[in-house]
Amino acid sequence: MTSATAIAHPNIALIKYWGKADETLSLPATGSLSMTLDVFPTRTTVTVGEGAAVGEGAAVGEGAAVGEDAAAGTGAAESADRDTLQLNGRPATEGELARVTKFLDLVREFAGDTRPAAVVSENTVPTGAGLASSASGFAALATAAAAAYGLDLDTRDLSRLARRGSGSASRSIPGGVAIWHAGDDAASFSETVAAPPLAMVIATVDAGEKPISSREAMRRTIATSPFFPAWIPSTAASLELMVAACAAGDFTRIGELTESNALRMHAVIQGSEPPIRYLTAASTRVFDVVAGMRAHGLEAYSTADAGPNVVVLTRPEDAAAVAATLSAEAGIAEPVIALPGPGAYLVGAGSDES
Ligand code: DP6
Repeated sequence: MTSATAIAHPNIALIKYWGKADETLSLPATGSLSMTLDVFPTRTTVTVGEGAAVGEGAAVGEGAAVGEDAAAGTGAAESADRDTLQLNGRPATEGELARVTKFLDLVREFAGDTRPAAVVSENTVPTGAGLASSASGFAALATAAAAAYGLDLDTRDLSRLARRGSGSASRSIPGGVAIWHAGDDAASFSETVAAPPLAMVIATVDAGEKPISSREAMRRTIATSPFFPAWIPSTAASLELMVAACAAGDFTRIGELTESNALRMHAVIQGSEPPIRYLTAASTRVFDVVAGMRAHGLEAYSTADAGPNVVVLTRPEDAAAVAATLSAEAGIAEPVIALPGPGAYLVGAGSDES
């Protein structure tokens, strides 16, 4: 039995990934760029070995009934040739388990190993609220699974692997500000780029589930939004400008590009048929309050993923003032300040042949 535990953090894109060029390989239609956060870590343990699927994985120390719970919760018979998944202390749903098994199948193919695994994951990202919990989730899973199955991957190859679980997870493998390149399987990896000091203030306006997953919404956008063809060259151009602005340390330009790219993404999404709207009146209110901050000399810019929550980009020294203004003027209960976080890392790997 071999187990490994990894920690990864979510990332928020300044230039968004929206749309795949290849669904099977999870290749993006365009490159994107994000900041990995130092808050909301996901911690995932993968245990590979005979009997892992019927509860021995629990011997790793995170709950004795992993396999049994999963089997009971899904109605599936206990079986040693089946992965199990425990999420935040509960057995995963069939759908969640299927996505993880599909990912582990890939790892097993690379490792030439057919044994199932027990996966235990603790995720502190507010799930389903547009904060991309799949990014930290699959980055941690890729890192832990690669180690547990004995694959020795560098950051580049690990980011390519994480990409296959969820596109944005690729960017949570390297730390800090990361670019995820568009391209073929070999070229579509993520790496850290130089950037000036940045901070993000997370304004949670609604912690509920999003109405439609980003995966599904991307498909509908590609199939029906007349604006999608324009999104691709526009984002590619913005990414080039963003990389240059980061290299030059030009915070104002970084902020302007961030807000305009986010609004363009939401415009493309809203152009779908039937339409998809992630931003609510409360989200728009935050955009307005942030514009007001700028008008009063407090430099901040808004972005939002596939959900109603708004993330405000600012300088680290202005983050507390931005958070206070979001509370006072947009009614945000507890804005969370995040700085650039680390890349995904292993916290323990072990082998027990007994
Ligand atoms: C709006 O990475 O969750 O957050 O590849 O289908 O798993 P899949 O999608 P996912 O999409 C994230 C979309 C986004 C923008 C971004 O993070 O760049």
